[in-house]
Amino acid sequence: MLVKGPGSPALCDRLAERLDVHMVGVEQKIFPDGEHYVRLTGDVKGEDCVLVQSTYPNENLLELFLIQDAIFENGASSLTVMAPYFSYARQDKLFREGEAVSARVFARLIETHARSFLSIDLHTERVLDFFSIPTVNLSAMPLLADHSCMYEPDILLSPDEGGKDRVRLAAGEAGIGWDYLVKKRIDGETVRMEPKGMKVEGKTVVILDDIISTGGTMIQAARQLFEQGAEEVHAGCTHGLFVGDTLQRLSRECDTVFCTDTVECEISKVTVAPLISRELFMTK
Ligand code: R5P
Repeated sequence: MLVKGPGSPALCDRLAERLDVHMVGVEQKIFPDGEHYVRLTGDVKGEDCVLVQSTYPNENLLELFLIQDAIFENGASSLTVMAPYFSYARQDKLFREGEAVSARVFARLIETHARSFLSIDLHTERVLDFFSIPTVNLSAMPLLADHSCMYEPDILLSPDEGGKDRVRLAAGEAGIGWDYLVKKRIDGETVRMEPKGMKVEGKTVVILDDIISTGGTMIQAARQLFEQGAEEVHAGCTHGLFVGDTLQRLSRECDTVFCTDTVECEISKVTVAPLISRELFMTK
């Protein structure tokens, strides 16, 4: 049984359309003092439940834990948590003395009731080490690469070395060339970001990243690529957080911007429903 998390309503509807499973909704309200309330709108007693709930913004993370408890209290036989976007994965270790390891805190809370955990394009797979239950990290990059084909790209590009494996995998499946940006010192004051091996002059480039948050990374990358003569620059990501006016600012710098529905927004042009349904339901 699919439990329709309020953080991923459109994605849950898409999953339900593809699959022959029952779906239970979640009623939610916020009290005047800001406290959240959730209640399942159907019975999950004795069911193997999959709760699909993205954890951005913070309210969705909070409600994930409340819904888990509701599912447990209602007597479900088992619970799988599918967090299409799992927030706090960037704080997966101590960067400075005195910090919290936030990803570990939330991993522990999830496994209080969950039998398994799934997510998509986790910022780092190290997060999975915090769980003692079975986990899966899926990748939406092949779906993004497929979508990118409509722009007839010459190159798929990761904006940094950290994301190069994701882009390599996607580009390989789509049969497109790939590269990643590196910082090169031009002189004492100038640092340029340019592809490690390829030239972008006259080329159509699609930059793919796991997250666009403030857009700082993508905006800098797009500007540098245009300066180096790129013909078109398109920006895509799995998790489009687009804090504040990021989408408007980024749209002025790139030919197009697109993302998946792991975080639902107006430019969620790629759905991860096939990815989730294949992993969770078709393999049964
Ligand atoms: C960084 O390592 C990530 O892969 C993204 O590049 C980063 O989180 C994007 O953040 P922003 O949009 O704020 O530059």
